[in-house]
Amino acid sequence: MGERLQVTSWTGSHMRTQVAIVGGGPAGSLLSLLLRAAGIDSVVLERRSQAYVLSRIRAGVLEHGTCETLRSIGVGARMDDQGFGHDGVNLAFGGRTVRIDFADLVGRQVMIYGQTEVQHDLYDAMDDRGVTVVDEAEAIALDGLRGDTPTVTFTTGGTTETLECDWIAGCDGYHGVTRQAVPDGVLSTFERVYPFGWLGILSETPPINDELIYAHHPRGFALCSMRHEMLSRYYVQCPADDEPDAWSDDRFWDELRTRLPDTAVANLKTGPSIEKSVTPLRSFVAEPMRHGRLLLAGDAAHIVPPTGAKGLNLAVSDVVYLADALRNWYHDGSTDGVDAYSDTALLRVWKAVRFSWWMTTMMHTFPDADDAFDERIAETELAYLEGSRAAQTAFAENYTGLPYRLPRDAG
Ligand code: FAD
Ligand code: DHB
Repeated sequence: MGERLQVTSWTGSHMRTQVAIVGGGPAGSLLSLLLRAAGIDSVVLERRSQAYVLSRIRAGVLEHGTCETLRSIGVGARMDDQGFGHDGVNLAFGGRTVRIDFADLVGRQVMIYGQTEVQHDLYDAMDDRGVTVVDEAEAIALDGLRGDTPTVTFTTGGTTETLECDWIAGCDGYHGVTRQAVPDGVLSTFERVYPFGWLGILSETPPINDELIYAHHPRGFALCSMRHEMLSRYYVQCPADDEPDAWSDDRFWDELRTRLPDTAVANLKTGPSIEKSVTPLRSFVAEPMRHGRLLLAGDAAHIVPPTGAKGLNLAVSDVVYLADALRNWYHDGSTDGVDAYSDTALLRVWKAVRFSWWMTTMMHTFPDADDAFDERIAETELAYLEGSRAAQTAFAENYTGLPYRLPRDAG
């Protein structure tokens, strides 16, 4: 995707647009399309090349609301054709497996469709609709956040340029610059670092099961997921500082087999891994998600451990709220939407942070021997889920995704 100039103006190294979007991951890309649908101009600055962004293997589970959002802007056709709607997930522990039946409990599904594919569809739509994207453009400074014309300074192709705008959307992920541009003392941060990570692999083998299996085992958590009929995604809990190279394929498959129920292992087809990486697990929230003319969204504002499959889905709900707030500002001349943005988004964010934390503590083995009490609590949470339809309904409601509550819906 080349860089196309449909911005309000660009003279020399000075560009102007309505909304400067820093980061072209799922949050920034989707936001650009939602704004385009609302007739609002934006420029997306992305530090990496499109090929690099598309090479990142990340999330795989889309909530109901994420699918609806993609469909609502005409980006859901390939997902509906190639994704897999799942009516439930399986939780394996203590030699037993509990199936949480989403369809029966909450009348909802999740969609198995990789983040890479979502990103691909977003890029195609941005290209078709003439969204301005500057690839390999790294934002280095934000200025004027408390005024009416904030700016983003960025480097591209060895030159330094300035983008002037009405609003800056900080969609640049956890390690980006936008959150860091907020002056000291303004943001409150909340963090939990877990004493383990996930080693994930992709293998060109048929999935072990037609639905996901999350396994709790004394040796640690394991997850069996998939991308399609001949592409499986597996994870095992490992020390957060493990190097992927320390895990040969044989070691990985042996560990996975040990942690899964025998009935599942009987269906496991192994093969060479085609990707292997370690992700540390953390919960993090920065509040508020707005400072003056800067609005933060997605991983730039919060991180969840991947256990509840919420990271990508939260990026989507944030930008739905954000686009709605900006539509309200541009079209209704009202500050109500932007004023409410942070509180509205954080209400949903914290519920996902809670669910991800809860599922992480329930499904993992904590390495510290003092955590024997916590281990019993985790086993008891699972036993409670096994025997209670009410508990299963709460799980299903959270996993398939809590509803979006736009401020104007409430009125
Ligand atoms: P990102 O996807 O991080 O996108 C931010 C973009 O901003 C990037 O493209 C980056 O290159 C760009 N950027 C950064 N700095 C700058 C700058 N200065 N200037 C311009 N551009 C910049 N979630 C799950 O639900 N399940 C998973 O299994 C899972 N696995 C993950 C594995 C890893 C290694 C990571 C990092 C995340 C994972 N997640 C997972 C989380 C999920 O992928 C994220 O929540 C989701 O990508 C958030 O989207 P985003 O657009 O907010 O941020
Ligand atoms: C996948 C990742 C997750 O974090 C999760 O909870 C379920 C599935 C995946 O990559 O397929």
